[in-house]
Amino acid sequence: MSRSTLALTDELRKYILDVSLREHPLLAALRQETAQHPDAKMQISPDQGQFMAILLRLMQAQSVLEIGTFTGYSALAMALALPPNGHIVACDISEEYTDTARKYWAEAGVGDRITLHIAPASETLNDLLASGKADTFDAAFIDADKESYDVYFEKSLALVRPGGLIMIDNVLRGGDSANPATESASTQSIRALNKKLHQDPRVHLTLVPIGDGVTLLQKI
Ligand SMILES: C[S@@+](CC[C@H](N)C(=O)[O-])C[C@H]1O[C@@H](n2cnc3c(N)ncnc32)[C@H](O)[C@@H]1O
Repeated sequence: MSRSTLALTDELRKYILDVSLREHPLLAALRQETAQHPDAKMQISPDQGQFMAILLRLMQAQSVLEIGTFTGYSALAMALALPPNGHIVACDISEEYTDTARKYWAEAGVGDRITLHIAPASETLNDLLASGKADTFDAAFIDADKESYDVYFEKSLALVRPGGLIMIDNVLRGGDSANPATESASTQSIRALNKKLHQDPRVHLTLVPIGDGVTLLQKI
């Protein structure tokens, strides 16, 4: 019995992965390759990838929007959870990062399930809205530049269907969200969004302390 969330020690974190992580060999290989990258810490954790995948399976998602792709781990984890006719629209601004992503997606046999748009995500999202895609996506995952999260949330809310899911990454900012001494623009932006979402009547929400903190929102 517990009335609060268990604090995780390193031993407990390792135990959780030991008894529950089922990582596709290509996800593991991608994680290993990305570990050599100077920006490796941008990648989501493997247990977060598995968590997002089971959510998509539970809701039988077919169409997903990803904002922030990097070397492709989250997109690959989600694509593997979709049916063969499932589809992800992925947004990033870096050809360099996403070259790695494309390689792994192809190797995993899901390259045809992911359309990558190399452009500022707000432009891609505006294009999707202009082409009549409002209320069509089953789910969205937001994991790009933190200062723009509120814009990405608003556009994702328009693009996701009623009942659909929006997952927002890094809402805890390594603990900085709860530390008023941290005043970086990115943390202030996440803090403001967390506060706004708490009161937003357009969504149901829960904040899950997995990875760097993920807020799950269901469009009402
Ligand atoms: C935290 S990483 C994404 C990690 C990824 N979800 C994963 O699982 O590995 C953030 C990504 O957002 C991209 N990005 C930054 N600003 C962007 C923008 N304005 N539009 C689209 N993507 C952007 C970066 O190039 C970077 O690849």
